[in-house]
Amino acid sequence: MADINGWDFYKYEEIGSTNDVIKLFCQTPNRKIVVQAIRQTAGRGRLGRSWVSEEGNLFFSMAFEFPLKDLGHLVTVSALSLAQILSRLAPQEKVSLKWPNDVLMNEAKISGILLEKGDGDYIITGIGVNIVSAPEIPDILYPTNSLRNAGIETTADTLLTQYLQQFDSNLQILRQQGFVPLKKQWLNMAANLNKQILVRQLDKEETGIFRGIDDNANLIIETAGELKKILAGDIFYIEKEDE
Ligand code: BTN
Repeated sequence: MADINGWDFYKYEEIGSTNDVIKLFCQTPNRKIVVQAIRQTAGRGRLGRSWVSEEGNLFFSMAFEFPLKDLGHLVTVSALSLAQILSRLAPQEKVSLKWPNDVLMNEAKISGILLEKGDGDYIITGIGVNIVSAPEIPDILYPTNSLRNAGIETTADTLLTQYLQQFDSNLQILRQQGFVPLKKQWLNMAANLNKQILVRQLDKEETGIFRGIDDNANLIIETAGELKKILAGDIFYIEKEDE
């Protein structure tokens, strides 16, 4: 086992999914674990989708103990940390955040994050970042992007180390100052704030104006003059920022 900035680190050439393998390491309490794979043969995305995992892109999972009731905070910190790193790497590109946990570059999805519960108090945060290729996401019409497409050359290993540093620093802010400063930063980078969006949930769809997130990171939309909280779903942009 190696170490990256205090995280116990395991790297594999090829495994099914880093989110599954990391669960095997969560048997003893108090650990901070990272599992990276060069290739995944059964990469998983949100809502039962698959995550095509070609060599050259970054695939990793983190596991540590975190209160399940604050899961929304972790979702926010995970995506914000990546958006901050990517906007530093590519200052000339438009990096933005899409609720609940997507990072976009020039309005196309460049990363996906999948949070799952591990044993005990462990939460697993699995992250995929398109570095050299931008596979299409089956069954969904989001455009995708990669860093290479945007003219940025980096490697999975470099990006992982940078990410862990940024994530640790945001987690420290969360622990010392609470969610409010991070929510502010998330909103500063949120795509299409105050624009019309469509929210697709398992059994229904609704449209409304995207008004932000609340203190638990739930989505807030305005429909017929009323604010409404949404706990889970996929959002689609109807009205674009420049309209
Ligand atoms: C999504 O946007 O649907 C989430 C995609 C999450 C993909 C990452 S890649 C590393 C980790 N292992 C997985 O099987 N999934 C996550």
